[in-house]
Amino acid sequence: MRFNLAIAGAVLPSLALGFPQMMGGTKEEILDMLKERAELEKREPDLVSGLLNTVGGLVKTVVSDVDGILGSVAGGLLNPNDKRPEPGYTFQAPGAGDSRGPCPGLNLLANYGYLPRNGYVNFGQVLDATARGFNMGTDLATVLATFAVLANGDLVTESFYLGSGPGSVGGLNRHSTVEADISPNREDYYLGCGDNHHLSSRLFQQNVAFAKAGSGKFDMQTMAQQYSASADFSKANNPFLYAFPFPQIVSVAAFSFYPAFFSNGTFGAGGVPNYESISSIIGAKLDRSTGQFSYVPERWPENWYRRSYPYGAVQALTDGFTQIYPSNIVVPLFAQLGTANFNATNILCDILQGFRSITPLIVAGTEKDAGTAISWALGKLDPVLGIGSLGCPSSVLSPDQPDILFPSASQTGGPINSPSVQASKAGNNVYNKVYFTAAPSKPACS
Ligand code: HEM
Repeated sequence: MRFNLAIAGAVLPSLALGFPQMMGGTKEEILDMLKERAELEKREPDLVSGLLNTVGGLVKTVVSDVDGILGSVAGGLLNPNDKRPEPGYTFQAPGAGDSRGPCPGLNLLANYGYLPRNGYVNFGQVLDATARGFNMGTDLATVLATFAVLANGDLVTESFYLGSGPGSVGGLNRHSTVEADISPNREDYYLGCGDNHHLSSRLFQQNVAFAKAGSGKFDMQTMAQQYSASADFSKANNPFLYAFPFPQIVSVAAFSFYPAFFSNGTFGAGGVPNYESISSIIGAKLDRSTGQFSYVPERWPENWYRRSYPYGAVQALTDGFTQIYPSNIVVPLFAQLGTANFNATNILCDILQGFRSITPLIVAGTEKDAGTAISWALGKLDPVLGIGSLGCPSSVLSPDQPDILFPSASQTGGPINSPSVQASKAGNNVYNKVYFTAAPSKPACS
């Protein structure tokens, strides 16, 4: 570390430099100190982070982990057309009435107006915005959006809320439909006492520590370690952990979404899943005085380029189930598990088959309602997953089958009927706060 005595002597003692608000003084004096600190940080970043690290304990570790992985921006071949946001799309933090939930990708797209800013979105808008903003493949977006409409939204308008639906009914917050336990940086539904949708400070601290100990990036290896540690924690502490197939697929794939979608530039072709990109896109803002991450509205960093070619369902499942999931097996309900036939195509066919044989779910109504819902979903999925595309076997719709895809769909606490949670934790995201400073080994209801 370069140590410039002239600067250090001329400015302030280290503590005041790190924590001006703790030194007392008038508002003007504190503002002056902050200004000086910002200038010094620009000129002498090593010096400032070194001084901050003298304060000790966890704060020191987290801050130094972050400083250790600050790095480069996109490299490789960049197409100017991939720069985001495009002209005409501007960041605007969500207001009190806007719906935001567990998906950082969709939250961000709504914050820029790629999706309606109020967070009430429809099928077509989601396919369009996810391709345009992040180059998500149409097949992957179709599978996700179909489940979201079916389990969390409204079939007639093909729409859903990004967070909680009106009266806390539906929306992506709804547990174990698309939202799942063992998420990259959200707590389990039961242990979070219903809060499965705010960024967890302690989980991101863990994620940063894995990045620091590895390549310094949020690559597949870092995310596999994050998955493995969180799977261990959930197995040990969450009696309602239930690896229900579809949400489990989403949650495993979501770990690979970090490098695959949030890298600046194309992951694997010069793009980097670095701290600057990841923390900004998932809305994690480090408070250097506490070492905690507050949850702020999701935002692209400056000079950010989306991946240059689509990342689709087969690629996402292949990455998820070959690079993330093997680090800690949580047994799902797939017939092919443990055989040579356990591959992305077969998992996608399982999804399609599952749809063909289920009795529903939120519609929880008549057989006719059920049939309508499933026919709708199959109509969306067949063109991207069906016989013509992946070669899945065909079968008939049988709404009488006891093989229910979303058991106890209408019960309190979500489809798997886990215990009730606090209603106050189930609403839309509230930003600019710190959530979960410690691991919740019991439901964090207070
Ligand atoms: C196409 C429609 C989409 C739907 C319906 C959807 C839905 C969801 C849901 C319900 C979750 C919570 C899963 C969990 O509990 O682990 C989630 C998480 C996530 N989604 Fe999305 N998503 C979509 C598109 C996207 C896109 C385009 C991206 C990236 C650009 C993305 C990135 C992520 C990530 C990284 C997480 C994990 C968040 C965390 O725990 O840190 N999603 N999504």
